[in-house]
Amino acid sequence: MKGIILAGGTATRLFPLTATTSKQLLPVYDRQMIFYPLNVLVKAGIKEILIIVAPEHSGQYINLLGSIFEKHNINIDFKVQKVPRGLADAFIVGEDFIDDDSVAMILGDNIFEDDLSKDIMNFKSGGRVFAKEVPDPERFGIVEFDADKNAVSIEEKPEKPKSNFCVTGIYVYDNRVAGIAKNLKPSERGEIEITDINNWYLNKGELDVRILAGEWLDAGTYDSLLDAGNVVREKEIYKKFHPVINESIKDFNEELKIIAKKRLN
Ligand code: DAU
Repeated sequence: MKGIILAGGTATRLFPLTATTSKQLLPVYDRQMIFYPLNVLVKAGIKEILIIVAPEHSGQYINLLGSIFEKHNINIDFKVQKVPRGLADAFIVGEDFIDDDSVAMILGDNIFEDDLSKDIMNFKSGGRVFAKEVPDPERFGIVEFDADKNAVSIEEKPEKPKSNFCVTGIYVYDNRVAGIAKNLKPSERGEIEITDINNWYLNKGELDVRILAGEWLDAGTYDSLLDAGNVVREKEIYKKFHPVINESIKDFNEELKIIAKKRLN
């Protein structure tokens, strides 16, 4: 399986913080936000990861992550998304990278407390998404369940939500996904919607909707960014990273210290 992190967009809700860097490079407690989704993919044993970024931030991503996992046989590729056309665009931008494999796509600003490794590793075909109950369902893709807890519909930002269960920002799909994405028509907000991909699989009876037990945060506003840092500290999520990530960050920090010392001399 391949992994994609979608880390583009303009993040206007976080201005002026995002006037100087990408949202997904802002700090969440002791490390950049992007390490949280990266951890989900590395924990799931994924060795080929594509990070999709906005043009103005590509250099910063390469500086941080360009060679960080060199020792660990994990390959990170980068691609620029020139215009934020919608979440489903990740599979069009990433089509060649996905090639003949299945793919786990995760949003660069999403933080999951649950360990999703097994759910990703044992994926066979169709689509698999993860839902979480939220107090403000109008802001999300919302799943409606029948009495037997089977998903029956998904609506993007509904005015009258049929439940409080939101589809969170990690999506696992089989190899059909790029073809599905390429056939989507933009929604009223002018984006190609991941919800339309989910409905494609749902209508075929091939969408597996799982419920998250732990905390889930998308760190896209001042409050949720602060909350994310606090949750990471309180629940000690920073201690539950894959050793490869922690070791690589430590090595990176050591290198920075050596460079800083040389500059002083
Ligand atoms: O957070 C989960 C929700 O994410 C889902 O429940 C919704 O179904 C899904 O549409 C999405 O909702 P948002 O409208 O909140 O997504 P947003 O536009 O904030 O984009 C999510 C992240 O993806 C954000 O960090 C920026 C990045 N992005 C977004 C777009 C549209 C890109 O990198 N490229 C893009 O083209």
